[in-house]
Amino acid sequence: MLLNIRDLKTYFPGRKQYLFSKPEQVKAIDGVTISIEEGETLGLVGESGSGKSTLGKAIVNLVTKTGGTVMFKDFADEKHQSNSGKIQMVFQDPLASLNPRMTVGNAISEVLKYHRIVPKDKILQRVKALFRMVELSPDLIFNYPHQFSGGQRQRIGIARALAVNPELIICDEVVSALDVSIQAQIINLLKRLQIDQGIAYLFISHDLAVVRQIAHRIAVLYCGRIVEIGRTDEIISSPMHPYTQALFSVASESNSGSVSMISTEVANPANPPDGCHFHPRCPIANNSGNFIGACSSVDPDLKKKSGGRMVACHQI
Ligand SMILES: Nc1ncnc2c1ncn2[C@@H]1O[C@H](COP(=O)(O)OP(=O)(O)OP(=O)(O)O)[C@@H](O)[C@H]1O
Ligand code: SF4
Ligand SMILES: [Mg+2]
Repeated sequence: MLLNIRDLKTYFPGRKQYLFSKPEQVKAIDGVTISIEEGETLGLVGESGSGKSTLGKAIVNLVTKTGGTVMFKDFADEKHQSNSGKIQMVFQDPLASLNPRMTVGNAISEVLKYHRIVPKDKILQRVKALFRMVELSPDLIFNYPHQFSGGQRQRIGIARALAVNPELIICDEVVSALDVSIQAQIINLLKRLQIDQGIAYLFISHDLAVVRQIAHRIAVLYCGRIVEIGRTDEIISSPMHPYTQALFSVASESNSGSVSMISTEVANPANPPDGCHFHPRCPIANNSGNFIGACSSVDPDLKKKSGGRMVACHQI
């Protein structure tokens, strides 16, 4: 097991209802338990605001965990695991955070120096090798961030992540801003790197069409909780949770693969509904405004189904 996450919680302080009241808590991640195997891609899908980015950031300690544990291999010490560089995160625009007056080659050299990956006299050679690894000409290391196209920026973001020989890369909407043909190139690059170097990915996307191209398994997040997780082929061919079913039918109707279009409102993580957070939107539970069984009162646990699938629903 490469990554083992148990009951992870990340709560943010939200707005104050009244001037002197305590701020409400935004339960962005509220008890997530998942694992990722070596060399595996786990896709993470859900509507906007479901907590996908927060989960990725909590794994690399970019946001504070409120509870739970993140175990990476045999590193018991969480500080050590985040400093080791073995888990990297790549964002939608990975060059946005770079100094615009520094060449991208120098930016990657800084990473190599910080982590002491190679001796000083081998740094230039290593930066060029990283560019070749992501199928970019090594001559481009002398360019500045603004001189690259969207697809090239993403390749450089991946090269920067690869600089520290990671075993897991968290890809947060890495192809969402790209044209479909460029998306396919980046997906193929990630797949090739996985085969060559055995890297695992947590692949976060709101686009199911993209996720199904790369993920071995898919986890579906709703209001900070995993509602379904299983093998990609099984989840795509027979989604079980009513939320997964709704996401997939909307995505196929819209033909865009996007999951941000279910008509009723997403649950608010600052004030989630009691019981199953999905119950006000659930077509199975809602019988003309009366909710069946425990749906509106008891939070369903993830339960094992056939083929290793897990689903959190009282009615399945
Ligand atoms: N730093 C923060 N402070 C307060 N609330 C936050 C913070 N970051 C995220 N949130 C809230 O946590 C919830 C989950 O946000 P998150 O960005 O993880 O969702 P997401 O699934 O990545 O959405 P998207 O698809 O739009 O990127 C949202 O309600 C968001 O407003
Ligand atoms: S537990 Fe009830 S409300 Fe939640 S998804 Fe299942 S049927 Fe719908
Ligand atoms: Mg996000």
